[in-house]
Amino acid sequence: MTGLVVAMDGPSGSGKSSASRGVARALGLRYLDTGAMYRAITWWMLQRGVDLADPEAIAARALDPILTLGADPDAPTVAVDGVDAAGPIRTAEVTAAVSAVSAVPEVRRRLVAEQREIIGAGGIVVEGRDIGTVVAPDAVVKIYLTASADARALRRTAELTGTTVEVQRAAMARRDTLDSTRKADPLAKAADAVELDTTALNLEEVVAEILRVIKEKV
Ligand code: C5P
Repeated sequence: MTGLVVAMDGPSGSGKSSASRGVARALGLRYLDTGAMYRAITWWMLQRGVDLADPEAIAARALDPILTLGADPDAPTVAVDGVDAAGPIRTAEVTAAVSAVSAVPEVRRRLVAEQREIIGAGGIVVEGRDIGTVVAPDAVVKIYLTASADARALRRTAELTGTTVEVQRAAMARRDTLDSTRKADPLAKAADAVELDTTALNLEEVVAEILRVIKEKV
């Protein structure tokens, strides 16, 4: 398992984070949440008043924030310029803004390079939108998680306070459209990915199914 790379892609709310951490834990692998990297840069830019409606303004600052990530699936960490960002990157403000930042090629180029460096010789579960297609096209195991729009909105609503399923369904649909229609590295299922619909599965069942796929391939 030391050289293994498990690529986990899919839309928001498909259960990628919980499943990725569960698989990494079960196999003693490291864990990388690439969405946290895009969120961290977005948070940094919001704090500095960068105009997120202007892709050139985003590109001009794309290399400035310094990211530090911890790869323990039990306690993943993310810091920006040495400041813990785990809480702030999950706010509704960052969630609403992140797709504009992640669509900018300069941001993607920088983060894809950093992600490849972290992946290194492998032994890691990596979750995102373009892992099987762009970041780690040679990954031995590629999983594409999906779930119905209702199931995804329900899950997200249960994680948050002060929101409704309707609000979450609309916000997720907007973000998924932006993520899958952008020019640079859109959300896409790799041709050799195994698609897993998690609508009717609980976390244990999803993890068990992914472990079964890994066992088959490795
Ligand atoms: O996975 P999460 O919802 O935290 O991702 C936040 C955002 O980061 C996504 O909506 C997408 O815009 C961007 N993202 C990306 N490529 C990745 C991971 C995340 O563009 N590999």
